[in-house]
Amino acid sequence: KQYRIAVIPGDGIGKEVMPEGLRVLEAAAKKHGVSVHFDHFDFSSWDYYEKHGQMMPDDWKEKIGKHDAIYFGAVGWPAKIPDHVSLWGSLIKFRREFDQYVNLRPVRLMPGVPSPLAGRKPGDIDFWVVRENTEGEYSSVGGRMFPDTDREFVTQQTVMTRTGVDRILKFAFELAQSRPKKHLTSATKSNGISITMPYWDERVEAMAKKFPGVKWDKYHIDILTANFVLHPDWFDVVVGSNLFGDILSDLGPACTGTIGIAPSGNINPDGDFPSVFEPVHGSAPDIAGQGIANPIGMIWSGAMMFEHLGEKEAGRSIVDAIERTLAERTLRTKDLGGNADTTACGKAVAEMVD
Ligand code: NAI
Ligand code: MG
Repeated sequence: KQYRIAVIPGDGIGKEVMPEGLRVLEAAAKKHGVSVHFDHFDFSSWDYYEKHGQMMPDDWKEKIGKHDAIYFGAVGWPAKIPDHVSLWGSLIKFRREFDQYVNLRPVRLMPGVPSPLAGRKPGDIDFWVVRENTEGEYSSVGGRMFPDTDREFVTQQTVMTRTGVDRILKFAFELAQSRPKKHLTSATKSNGISITMPYWDERVEAMAKKFPGVKWDKYHIDILTANFVLHPDWFDVVVGSNLFGDILSDLGPACTGTIGIAPSGNINPDGDFPSVFEPVHGSAPDIAGQGIANPIGMIWSGAMMFEHLGEKEAGRSIVDAIERTLAERTLRTKDLGGNADTTACGKAVAEMVD
């Protein structure tokens, strides 16, 4: 099979780190006999907007909706275009229209990256955060009444559907089952939020019965955030609702260092639509054009993409190569105290792939 990947570099350093991501993907594909074809698109960028007055062509869904995955750099150029216009005109459209109901981020302490948690070394922290990405607390059900009076009140309801909750839990349990520790942690708050969160807990219990090989536990979100910092070694796969997952998926990577290396996937596991793989960082206008951006977040996102496509060996080889590269000070970029530029770092990872 030949995989077809839609490549969208976007804005700013997105355009600088993308070539390094592709370089490493090509190296890993060659080593592992994976056949992959890249189609390049210039939309979802300020340059495109300047020419066409919109972020994407009207037929964007036809253009990229049939690809096996989308490899995305970063979008946003606040000096020229407001962020809500650029993000809602592209990235957020992908997430919604392509029903990417899983947001997946690794939390892994890498060599050469100073952890803000004292005394932790590579190997100590290695888990995944799985966030529900389509419903939950981020619903549009609610309203505001009696504005500007003493009777003013606002309300916003959490929406949990059985389909929505079960599909994210199934994804998380399957991920846990595929890992050596086979351990799943659920984020809850059923002591305080007395209707939706007990329902979430109930569905976790029901799903757990289908995965007898997976050990599972649950923590209230308040103590769970504390444990991310105090005992990151306790976790293997952590699943949460939209709000709790949002918080945990920023907190986790923050516990392991720099924004320049963090990857993410917005995933439609059913395969009805393509998934988007992108670094966590944005377009970094403050350093764009200097050739110093760290390409590791982009490269690692590529590894996640290969793993998602079922090319586990190729994905694995990229993560190993990233670790070996980061271990060498001279191969690291400036944000990690090194002196390599974007291209030198990308080339080093590509050469380490085996
Ligand atoms: P940012 O992530 O672009 O930058 C934050 C800081 O981290 C900056 O000082 C930057 O230089 C540094 N940084 C980021 N990535 C780096 C890398 N690979 N290597 C070295 N240093 C790096 O976030 P910011 O400045 O808040 O947003 C800039 C633009 O990016 C905005 O338009 C924002 O909306 C957009 N954005 C887009 C995202 C996406 O496409 N998914 C995500 C986050 C922001
Ligand atoms: Mg967030």
